[in-house]
Order: sequence, then C-alpha cells, then structure tokens
Amino acid sequence: MNSKLLNEIVEKIKKDLKGKGILACSGGTDSSVLAVASKMASRDGVLSIFVDTGLVREGERKRVESFFKEFGINFKIVDESELFLSNLKGITDPEQKRKVIGETFIKIFEREALDFKAEYLLQGTIAPDWIESGGKNRDTIKSHHNVGGLPEKMNLKLVEPMRDLYKDDVRELSKELGLDTSLQPFPGPGLAVRIVGEITKEKIVLLKKVTKIVEDEIEGALEPAKRPWQYFAVILPVKTTGVHGDKRSYGNTVAIRAIDSTDAMTGTFHRFDWEFLEDLSTRITNEVTSVNRVVLDITDKPPSTIEWE
Ligand code: XMP
Repeated sequence: MNSKLLNEIVEKIKKDLKGKGILACSGGTDSSVLAVASKMASRDGVLSIFVDTGLVREGERKRVESFFKEFGINFKIVDESELFLSNLKGITDPEQKRKVIGETFIKIFEREALDFKAEYLLQGTIAPDWIESGGKNRDTIKSHHNVGGLPEKMNLKLVEPMRDLYKDDVRELSKELGLDTSLQPFPGPGLAVRIVGEITKEKIVLLKKVTKIVEDEIEGALEPAKRPWQYFAVILPVKTTGVHGDKRSYGNTVAIRAIDSTDAMTGTFHRFDWEFLEDLSTRITNEVTSVNRVVLDITDKPPSTIEWE
C-alpha cells in the first residue's frame, strides 16, 4: 500500500476539517477514494452524499449504494433528477450547462449541510479539474463542475485534499484501497455533456440505452487491460435520413468516443477492429431504433477534449 500518499490525504483532511462535513460522492474513482480516506480521518463527522441527477448511467445509483455499504461509509442518496432537468431546460451552451449544474449541486449540498449541521464540503477535485478550469493562469478550456461551476458566494468551506494529484495517482490509490478498478472516469456533469444541445428526457433515455450497449460490448469483447481508458457515446443534435426495413426514417445520430490516456491531460483515439465496430453499430441501430446513424470520433486530445462539451 502506498500508505504515504494515503496518509497525506488523511492528514490533510484532519488538518482542514474543523467541524462536520458533507462529501460530494459521484461514485467515481476520485470521490470514492476521498470517501474512504474521509472515513479514516473522521468516522462520523463526514456524510457522503450521492446525488442522482438523472444524468447518471443505468445502474449507477445501485452500484454507488453497494460501494457505500461495502466500505461502511456514512451516506445519503438524494434523487434530484426533476430539479436538474428543469434547471437545464432550454440551455444549449456547454459552459452555461456546466455552470447551472455546478450551482444546482451546490444548492443541494448547502441544503444537506444545513440538515447535517456541516460547515464543510469535501470534494475529490484533482489537478486536471482546476488546471483546465483556468487555474495557473491558463485559458479556461471547460469549467469542470466541481471547480468552475462554484458560485462566488458559497456558505460552505471547501476541503480538497487531492488537488495536486493526477488521475494515475488516484487510480493507484484506488487499487491499493481495494476499490473497483475497472471503473472508467465519468464526468461530474454526467450525461449532460454528452448530449450536444438541449437536454430532454427523451434524449437522456436514449443516451442511457446507447451508453449501456457501448459499455457492454467493449467490456464483453476486451479484457480490462485491453480496454480503452475511457469509452462512451454522445448524442448529436443532428437528425439524418435512413432506412429501417423498407421505410424511410429520419433518426438520431450518435458518436462513439473511446480514448487511450494515462492522466486525461492528453489522449489518443482508440483503434478498434472494424468487425467489432460493425457489431457495435448494428446492435445500437437494432436495439435503439430511433438511432439510424453511428459515427466514430477519431480525434486525439489535443486538439479535441475527451468529452464533447
Ligand atoms: P476533458 O473532456 O476535459 O476530460 O478532456 C478530461 C477528463 O475529465 C472528465 N471530465 C470531468 N470530470 N467534472 C469531472 O469530475 C467535470 O466537469 C468533467 N469534465 C470532464 C472527462 O470525463 C475525462 O475523463
């Protein structure tokens, strides 16, 4: 166990957390490592909260609940899917989406903090989050929801003990702690940044189905070490003409994004076998009939980012 790094995180929490705190836990690697470290630092002084934004993947809520239980973490799950959907109504600009999502999260956390009598908010922010959100005098590439989306006035004091770590450090820690290491990174704003354009209930339902197929197919075909570093589907605001049976269709377009990386700062698009891609595309259009076109993203980071928004 790289107990030095873990000890450092635990010590930082002990030093910065001078009262009760709530922890924003998405169930991803960063916030899960933080939840375990917080339990070590302060057994009952921290409440981990998973917010079901409605923009999470199929089965995510259940999976996170099992993680909390398995690691004996003090937790609460809140369903705010209707609130996120109504706050995002009509918004198409990606940065605007991220700000609205950040503010909605913070309002929920402030309410929950009041309930738990907490003064602190613990977040699993890591270096790429704040670097790409315009830290260190860089240009803002995108406002990661747990950084750039924070309103200027916030009633909670932030504790971010992992700010200087990179994804590969956190993955290593996660392995040492016995967490599920097959988890791929998932962005805080969730499926919202994978629906280009306005978010609607219908598009969320569609994207959840396609996402599940992409994950199933890749995980079924490739052993963990051979899988791309991150893989998902994106729904585009483009409808095109197609043919289903012998009838004209006018359907949705989805893009497949799969990237190989070590720290999310740079990456190359994953080279799949053509046969695999053919099977994947056929399965998507057969099972989600409102999709009649599947395209593949073949751009590296840079010049693209990993997520489309
Ligand atoms: P980008 O799209 O910036 O993504 O190349 C780099 C990595 O970060 C994830 N990502 C986020 N994670 N909050 C997060 O916690 C966010 O707002 C956010 N945006 C992107 C992305 O999935 C990729 O792994």
